[in-house]
Amino acid sequence: MKALITGITGQDGSYLAEHLLSLGYEVHGLVRRIALEDPERRFTRISHLLDRIHLHPASLESYPSIFSVVSRNDFDECYHLAAQSFVAESFADGFSTMNININGTHYMLAALRELRPTCRFYFAGSSEMFGLVEESPQRETTRFHPRSPYGISKVAGFELTRNYREAYGMFAASGILFNHEGPRRGFEFVTRKITSTVARITAGLATELALGNLDARRDWGHSKDYVRAMHLMLQQKTPDDFVVASGESHTVREFCELAFSVAGLDYRDYVRVDERFYRPAEVESLVGDASKARTVLGWTPTYTFPEMVREMVENDLRSTVGKPLSEAVAESH
Ligand code: NAP
Ligand code: GDD
Repeated sequence: MKALITGITGQDGSYLAEHLLSLGYEVHGLVRRIALEDPERRFTRISHLLDRIHLHPASLESYPSIFSVVSRNDFDECYHLAAQSFVAESFADGFSTMNININGTHYMLAALRELRPTCRFYFAGSSEMFGLVEESPQRETTRFHPRSPYGISKVAGFELTRNYREAYGMFAASGILFNHEGPRRGFEFVTRKITSTVARITAGLATELALGNLDARRDWGHSKDYVRAMHLMLQQKTPDDFVVASGESHTVREFCELAFSVAGLDYRDYVRVDERFYRPAEVESLVGDASKARTVLGWTPTYTFPEMVREMVENDLRSTVGKPLSEAVAESH
């Protein structure tokens, strides 16, 4: 089986590439040319895979570049993960977010329809589409009410994917994935911002952590578990959309409490609220019902919330302090 992953340099792309390789897939990735020109910095998440994957330069903003990659390779499956994925940035530059996330998705679908209509397509939908939630927990039938340009762009991508399925009979499925994290998470997202700062405080490199809304609630899982669900969605008889979530919700404050406690610290001594990190419109609370994924796909997550937080803190302590957890914590007190 030959799979194309867009966004292979990102958190999910790197874990998905590992998962597909372990299943015997030939794995191809679509990457930006600037990434190819700066591999040491841009390929940190996939550097250990470079001799086992095939990379193709292309841009989500350019239909001809996507057309060219798809025309030269007979892909069986396409996982479309590439996106401007940071919600706060979408308020700063909504136009770029819309362009990349909506047109990029449309270009992928159009090229596949034209050249590889039997290639199975996965779209990276998001719980951010539920936004101002209408019911809790959120499921596949919950109405969307996005609260950011990012959320709106994902609703558009979701509808495009459904339309290609209905209009052209393509095997096109969307995952509605709730927040998922791990040691490879980008530093701008709240979880990694917290765990990396815990490590910097422990190492004596920082003295405080400035955050926005501590009361926001998220349903946090582990990326490694969630990429398995993406693959399962493309192995079904018929294409469909699935919520993927842990079913538990925690506040940002609870995440802080746990992450600091892993390093033997009390978050109240370090966390400061800064208005700059509030969003113009917030998604206050998300929690998903993944019963359909559990029943139809046979998907179950393996990480608990505390296990995921601990893994992230330990990873950041190891890379920042350069010592195993117990030693680093002992020396910081
Ligand atoms: P991520 O770490 O931010 O990775 C994003 C990927 O998209 C990177 O490989 C990035 O490439 C690529 N990309 C961004 N702009 C691009 C452009 N103009 N052209 C080509 N590639 C571009 O995101 P992630 O957490 O792995 O998430 C993967 C997907 O799932 C995204 O679509 C995200 O919106 C969606 N999603 C994520 C979550 C979550 O909690 N993680 C939940 C629901 C949905 P560079 O390395 O070159 O920047
Ligand atoms: N990033 C960030 N930085 N978020 C903060 C901060 C801060 O300093 N302080 C509080 N928060 C709050 C945000 O307001 C939000 O309510 C919550 O922490 C989570 O923010 P992020 O980690 O940036 O993630 P997100 O929920 O906005 O978006 C992520 O999950 C979506 C799925 O629901 C991204 O991965 C999206 O790509 C994804 O679709």
